[in-house]
Amino acid sequence: MKLKSSVVNFHIFTKHLSTTPNSSFFSTSDGYLTRDAQINKSLSYWNQLGAPKLIVAPMVDNSELPFRILCRKHGAHAAYTPMLHSRIFSENNKYRLQEFTTCKEDRPLFVQFCANDPETLLKAARRVEACCDYVDINLGCPQRIARRGNYGAFLMDKLPVIKSLVEKLAYNLHVPVSCKIRIFPDLQDTLNYAKMLEDAGCSLLAVHGRTRDEKDGKKFRANWDAIRAVKNALKIPVLANGNIRHMDDVKDCLEHTGADGVLSAESLLENPALFAGFKNVDQRDLVVEYLQLCEKYPVPWRMIRSHVHKMLGEWFRVHPHVREDLNNQSKLTFEFLYDMVNRLHELGDTMPLCEGTILETVYEDKDGVQVRCAES
Ligand SMILES: Cc1cc2nc3c(=O)[nH]c(=O)nc-3n(C[C@H](O)[C@H](O)[C@H](O)COP(=O)(O)O)c2cc1C
Repeated sequence: MKLKSSVVNFHIFTKHLSTTPNSSFFSTSDGYLTRDAQINKSLSYWNQLGAPKLIVAPMVDNSELPFRILCRKHGAHAAYTPMLHSRIFSENNKYRLQEFTTCKEDRPLFVQFCANDPETLLKAARRVEACCDYVDINLGCPQRIARRGNYGAFLMDKLPVIKSLVEKLAYNLHVPVSCKIRIFPDLQDTLNYAKMLEDAGCSLLAVHGRTRDEKDGKKFRANWDAIRAVKNALKIPVLANGNIRHMDDVKDCLEHTGADGVLSAESLLENPALFAGFKNVDQRDLVVEYLQLCEKYPVPWRMIRSHVHKMLGEWFRVHPHVREDLNNQSKLTFEFLYDMVNRLHELGDTMPLCEGTILETVYEDKDGVQVRCAES
């Protein structure tokens, strides 16, 4: 797919930035800021960004530009890119052009990398710093691929490596560094870890309230108590992640943890309008809006296919033959997808509510009147 002019070409920025190599987020003309001044700068930077509360979590192959814009149009205040591999990103032009695109409406933006080598991470980060608000380090990926590649949550066994990654970015980039972590089984270990990150120069911390072994988000509830303890122990802004399925969860989570904002992932894939509440949302219309954004901001078809499946999952359960037709298309086209949505419209509105993860129970009240009751 060809990139269009509305999509940022970040080579231009790289060239521009290389003219000011000695300044950074934490430096002044006299040297580096004191730790207290760094924290104050981190806090005022966050406030200048508008202290975003409702945030699209990083998702490989799923938090790409058109999806981020869709979520922003429906209530999200900020968004993470999918995790990018720092070594491949710094070496491979094709990977960069395909896996990272952005545009002027795509702010505030966190660009996330996985890494285990500070120099390589810095090289990758320098290529994006002019078109994002934070460079984020993925310290939470628990997948086998992260174990093999020695990154993500497997660096929790190598805290000095993590410290060197954070310090490298904090003292060399023009934008602040953020981190996304998982918790340790032991609370004190988690608090020591979070404090170490803050001391190393991390300006913003997202805490996924599950341990490295709690991979299945549907099976393990996120530990909001641990997130609250981290929030209380740190001075930098802290974001809570895990179990944000609808706006009631947002309210409960912010109250419970005291966090500065929340990240949502899986539930947002089913309902990209989650942060707008659930009023009058039809997933079919959201799919059309998403496809239009994909025409404007091209992305690989595998991402589009994945979103269509997730957004229309409930419809496909009711009309499985439409899903089969989709699965039989080895090569997708926009024409086919728009047609498919039209077919779903023609099949009528007998779908369960288009309310993402909210289910309805229908029962009869004492007068025999059917009552619909949403359950979370
Ligand atoms: C499809 C998918 C891809 C993900 N990719 C990333 C990623 O690239 N980086 C990351 O830090 N976390 C990634 N995650 C984890 C989420 O950001 C989030 O931490 C996790 O799903 C818990 O949030 P939830 O309970 O709202 O789903 C991914 C999750 C999903 C479902």
